[in-house]
Amino acid sequence: MDNLEILDCIRSLTSSEPDATSLLAEVVSLLRRERPRYHWVGVYLLEGDELVLGPYVGKPTPHTRIPLNQGICGAAASTGQTLIVDDVNADPRYLACSLETRSEIVVPIQHQGRVLGEIDIDSDQPAAFTHQDRDLLEAVAILLAEKIYH
Ligand code: SME
Repeated sequence: MDNLEILDCIRSLTSSEPDATSLLAEVVSLLRRERPRYHWVGVYLLEGDELVLGPYVGKPTPHTRIPLNQGICGAAASTGQTLIVDDVNADPRYLACSLETRSEIVVPIQHQGRVLGEIDIDSDQPAAFTHQDRDLLEAVAILLAEKIYH
């Protein structure tokens, strides 16, 4: 599927899935399936000052709760900006989840300027994420925000 087809599919899921958790579970599976470079795909939701792991596909991670001042995940949520890290081993903020991971993208999910959570994706390929991935995932984040907020 191209990016627009993925977005259409997620748009239908937002009406057919009964709640945010089931929508998030469907969306992480869809992204993992449609983009083989996305080796670990998950969503963290903000609870107080911590990001709490929600639905994900990939190897289990030790980072099920991440304070806002830690990790690439914490940095993206604190600034509300998408972060793309081409080489995770060169970024001192990086919290390792799997030894194979080489690059990462984190896209905040926001509603009316408030961060609700984020989409976190790891790849075993270096520099796996381009502006097309950013465009896709920022559009996905907007669709998810509606469901998480309501
Ligand atoms: N790498 C992230 C932690 C989450 S795991 O990748 C699933 C970070 O540096 O915040």
